[in-house]
Amino acid sequence: MKKSNEESIKKAGLPETDTVRLAGAKRIGIMGGTFDPIHNGHLAAAESARAELRLDVVLFIPAGNPVFKQGKPLTPGALRFEMTRLATASNPAFHVSRIELDREGVTYTVDTLRALRSACPGTQLFFITGADAFADVLRWREASALFKLAAFVVAGRPGTDRKQLKEVIAKVRAMNGRIKMLDCPAVDISSSSLRGRAASGLPVRYLTPDNVAGFIEEHRLYLKERRNEHVPADEILKILRNTQSAKRFEHTKSVAVEARRLAALYGADEENAYLAGILHDAARGLPDDKLLSKARRYGVEINGVAAKRPSLIHGLVGAEMARHEFGVRNQDVLNAVMYHTTGRPGMSKLEKVVLVADYIEPTRPDREDVISVRAFAETDLDGAVIRALTEKIAFNRDNSLHPLSQQAYEYMVDTIKSEKEDT
Ligand SMILES: [Fe+2]
Ligand SMILES: [Fe+2]
Repeated sequence: MKKSNEESIKKAGLPETDTVRLAGAKRIGIMGGTFDPIHNGHLAAAESARAELRLDVVLFIPAGNPVFKQGKPLTPGALRFEMTRLATASNPAFHVSRIELDREGVTYTVDTLRALRSACPGTQLFFITGADAFADVLRWREASALFKLAAFVVAGRPGTDRKQLKEVIAKVRAMNGRIKMLDCPAVDISSSSLRGRAASGLPVRYLTPDNVAGFIEEHRLYLKERRNEHVPADEILKILRNTQSAKRFEHTKSVAVEARRLAALYGADEENAYLAGILHDAARGLPDDKLLSKARRYGVEINGVAAKRPSLIHGLVGAEMARHEFGVRNQDVLNAVMYHTTGRPGMSKLEKVVLVADYIEPTRPDREDVISVRAFAETDLDGAVIRALTEKIAFNRDNSLHPLSQQAYEYMVDTIKSEKEDT
């Protein structure tokens, strides 16, 4: 029984950690939300539901980052996931799922419930939600399908419009929806009030677990001027460690360190060089289908050559991942990621630094061309770029050279020639 359960969970495309956690569960609670940030109100409701409904596991599912979200940006998913993980770590019945964070495009509750339903046939699903959100449930996508997939567990919150709630409950019951009002002390905490407090420098301790409060403080989340900042480089590294092969991850770290060293040598921004180095191959290890689906999602053009060899656009897709998934806004950093393999005419110093660092970082084998670019890199950044581009052009055996590389090469040779003529 347990085995077949595990297999069907895998088939539904659930992350592997969920597969392990859900196998054998009979009664599963589901807490959806942006968890921006998670707070004690969420946790108290989840624990009440667990006890009252004898749930085997409560799955916390942080919502994905809608690409074209109206209004204020959400905190990057990686950070919301980490806060949710910290908050729930001490409860063995709680588990955090990446299912919505990993899914492409906008995610609807009905899709997630369907995935869970097909992954866990024969289990009972309980969707736990606050009364204020539930009052709106009839406007959710495919509302009538929702009620068939899961029972609704509703936690009250002070200030809920009781009359409106009663009307919604009556309507849902008329559609054969199952609703359970949770006997849970109403906690008047909301994520938005918590963000407001953090933005004003007020404490959030005791409104959310200590480790979450510490995380918010450490990462300076929700401070007004920090609202648009990207995921810190070290957090991005932690994420890449899980998505890249061990070899590529070593290469990534090595490029970042080498790029920072070259930046110091040639007067480019060291922090940006390090960040671009970490991000440069973010899309490289992805399986082709995932790379192409990300390209479509972010509007990256897939030309004929790229359709045949998707890895050719890993720089372009990596830059879009940096923008959309890690919140990077610095255009120079994004360009350095975008053009790190091809180069382009008119490269900035940072772009040159990252291209060269990728070519020569110490874990690269000591081939003749690598040794030669390494030698240039110590005294002549442009020389190193030209030498690396020359090699890329010469190596064009399977006609997979990007036209930008040829253009970049000609541009650099021309500028250097005209600079010489000027002096
Ligand atoms: Fe690359
Ligand atoms: Fe690379």
